[in-house]
Amino acid sequence: MRIFPRKSQSLLCYNVFMDKLEKIITLCKGRGFIFPGSEIYGGLANTWDYGHLGVELKNNIKREWWNFFVRENKNAVGMDGGILMNPNVWVASGHVAGFSDPLMDCRDCKTRHRADKLIDVFQKDIDPDAMSVSEMEQFIAEKKIPCPNCKKTNFTPIRQFNLMFKTNRGVVEGSENTIYLRPETAQSQFVNFQNVQRTSRLKVPFGIGQIGKAFRNEITPGNFIFRTVEFEQMEFQHFTTDAKSLVDYKTFQDKAMDFYVSRLGLNGEKIRFKDHIQLSHYAKAAADEEYQFPFGWGEIGGTHHRGTFDLGNHQDLSKKNLEYQCPTTNEKFIPTVIESTYGCDRLVLAVLVDAYHEEQIADDDVRVVLKLKPSLAPYTVCVLPLQKKGLTEKADEVFAMLSREFNTTYDDTASIGKRYRRQDEIGTPFCVTIDYDTLEDGCVTVRNRDTMEQERIKIDDLVPTIRKTL
Ligand code: GAP
Repeated sequence: MRIFPRKSQSLLCYNVFMDKLEKIITLCKGRGFIFPGSEIYGGLANTWDYGHLGVELKNNIKREWWNFFVRENKNAVGMDGGILMNPNVWVASGHVAGFSDPLMDCRDCKTRHRADKLIDVFQKDIDPDAMSVSEMEQFIAEKKIPCPNCKKTNFTPIRQFNLMFKTNRGVVEGSENTIYLRPETAQSQFVNFQNVQRTSRLKVPFGIGQIGKAFRNEITPGNFIFRTVEFEQMEFQHFTTDAKSLVDYKTFQDKAMDFYVSRLGLNGEKIRFKDHIQLSHYAKAAADEEYQFPFGWGEIGGTHHRGTFDLGNHQDLSKKNLEYQCPTTNEKFIPTVIESTYGCDRLVLAVLVDAYHEEQIADDDVRVVLKLKPSLAPYTVCVLPLQKKGLTEKADEVFAMLSREFNTTYDDTASIGKRYRRQDEIGTPFCVTIDYDTLEDGCVTVRNRDTMEQERIKIDDLVPTIRKTL
């Protein structure tokens, strides 16, 4: 059955034939969460800009992450490293030599594809990361894997394409002046390991958390904010001993699941761990955490055993001793690292997908509601005077009181029903309506986003009542 919304209901189109992702993109643009990047110039592939509501949602996710991993952990501190680093950092990390995608062009329709993705989509039980370039080429040819666009099988050989963005330091262009936009935040945690350890006086095992931008020259289709050229990572590097490292690895996998479910409110049944089939030579374990998006399972984070690879390589190339000396045994060693990494924008998307609901509440009435965890919602509460006439002053008073405690918005346009629906669509958990009785009895009507139930409560009780839910 095709459902038509009542016209008055919303700016959005509730077309049941639209894919869920398209609906979310439409809602994000229509309500001011996320806009296409540089839209008035025709856009720029795989770039998006966050509007006010998107920034609030993203900041709330970052705050939850920072509290969970850094503030609530007595063995952790944070940092904020620069986007631009000495180019040798990326030599030591292996990114200059090996951070590339295997690309093939379709000779017929001229579209470009990642060979590993073609294989992955064609045959799930094969790990393309474990194949050499020639093995991938041979597999694609033998299995006659078609071009996803034109269905022909006429690909060019694979070319390795480095994903790092290059720029120039100074006025002269040339390889000696090349620097990179960082493709991951992790390396500043490694190169600052000793600065942080010395100043925090933390003992191994301890961790460093960081949230920041990373850049990758992604050329394959992005699925909205899932794959972008500029994105934010939230990374935690846990420095431990080799002996403890596998136990700590498991602890961080458990922490990841706990974070997704208890802090972001994600449905745990839509999250799975996917072990890396082919481990890097230095790693004892590695797995991605994947969320079931409308377009399939996609990586939202990962727990990686990095061994002593990063600190060891930085020590070798910088010629600076990066060993840690245990204060009890005096033993000197390079700590082993367990990395717990998260893509902030991918979590914004997962949270939106999980929260998006359409509810048929009458034959001709569909309600779109974002059932965001209240602590993540861009606005916690909206103040709505039933009419402007005679109620604005009281509503302003209530707004002033609530906005000192919560992220609060105000809406005095259109009918009350329409205003409730607007707040449902952006996920505001509470609407507080001021009516003429309020002036007499000091009570307001509080409407709950999820149940749509309305309750009359005293203005003086508003703050504690709402705070309880966060
Ligand atoms: N320091 C380890 C590291 O960077 P990664 O798996 O390449 O590991 C970590 O990236 C996380 O960053 C991923 O799990 C994903 O959530 C996010 N991410 C990676 N590439 C991205 C992209 N192009 N757009 C958005 N998020 C991305």
